[in-house]
Amino acid sequence: MSTFHSFKKAKVGFIGAGNMGQAIIRGLLAGGMEPERIYATAKTKRKLDYLTEKYGIKTLKNNEEVADLCDVIFLAVKPQDLYDVIEPISKTFSEEKIVISLAAGISISTLQKWIFDCKKIIRIMPNTPVNLGRGLIGYCTSRDAEYLSEGLEDFLKPLGEVVYAEEGDHFQALTVACGSGVGFVFEVMIYWQEWLEEHGFNREDARKMVLQTFLGAAELANSQSQTPIEELQKKVVSKKGVTDAGLNSMRELEIERALRISFEKAVMRDRELGKQ
Ligand SMILES: NC(=O)c1ccc[n+]([C@@H]2O[C@H](COP(=O)([O-])OP(=O)(O)OC[C@H]3O[C@@H](n4cnc5c(N)ncnc54)[C@H](OP(=O)(O)O)[C@@H]3O)[C@@H](O)[C@H]2O)c1
Repeated sequence: MSTFHSFKKAKVGFIGAGNMGQAIIRGLLAGGMEPERIYATAKTKRKLDYLTEKYGIKTLKNNEEVADLCDVIFLAVKPQDLYDVIEPISKTFSEEKIVISLAAGISISTLQKWIFDCKKIIRIMPNTPVNLGRGLIGYCTSRDAEYLSEGLEDFLKPLGEVVYAEEGDHFQALTVACGSGVGFVFEVMIYWQEWLEEHGFNREDARKMVLQTFLGAAELANSQSQTPIEELQKKVVSKKGVTDAGLNSMRELEIERALRISFEKAVMRDRELGKQ
């Protein structure tokens, strides 16, 4: 098997360049990657024209060319379309290629069956803040791609924090906590904002207050990364004070239990989709 040397010199292709494909393209460009090293296909000509115009990347007319020409190939079509997209070109993925799949729920062993000759397969799970370079990207690799981990983390760094998660429970937990997690945080933000509006704040101010509270808490925790979150929380609570009363109520109402059940339900759905 030939050895892949560096993501820094590789030609990088995208089979599919919709929401997440483009978020990654933007991140790579922001990280300094030359647009001439990026190739993409899409279903419609309109999208191809848009990609060239907006990002200055190269577009190709068919997926086979991407698999043939590029060293690193992102599979960025919807999971339900993936088999139909790669089955006709599976033989084009030769053994030295690196395939990075974004497809939720499709395991490395399934991908390995579909693209038999290629052994260097990586799965990633980015969340939507990758759009701002503030995402969380989980990844796991086939055995033959393990040696790429350090280079991959460096390559994806412009998109946010990159975390290894073993395939299976570990990867599913990351998918739910960080991928779906963005949606869960928004759910809580919605209640927070509504409550402020009920107390007389206009929408704009209420939104500002919620965002700044979440951002501030996250930034504070980030600035003291060695301090456990429980310790930071203790610093804003005085015994029998206002925050204490609210937290006691949250605990009595078993918000933790409600969240855990919701996380587990989401994991179950992820498993179901994977089987389908
Ligand atoms: N969006 C997210 O937040 C998110 C998060 C984590 C993981 N993912 C994963 O990312 C992948 C892509 O999701 P997405 O949200 O980016 O989907 P999307 O916006 O629908 O993009 C899909 C892309 O695939 C292209 N496409 C469809 N059929 C094709 C074909 N036969 N040949 C070449 N390109 C084709 C589409 O082309 P046109 O644009 O011309 O239609 C489009 O550019 C999925 O596997 C999903 O699980 C997404």
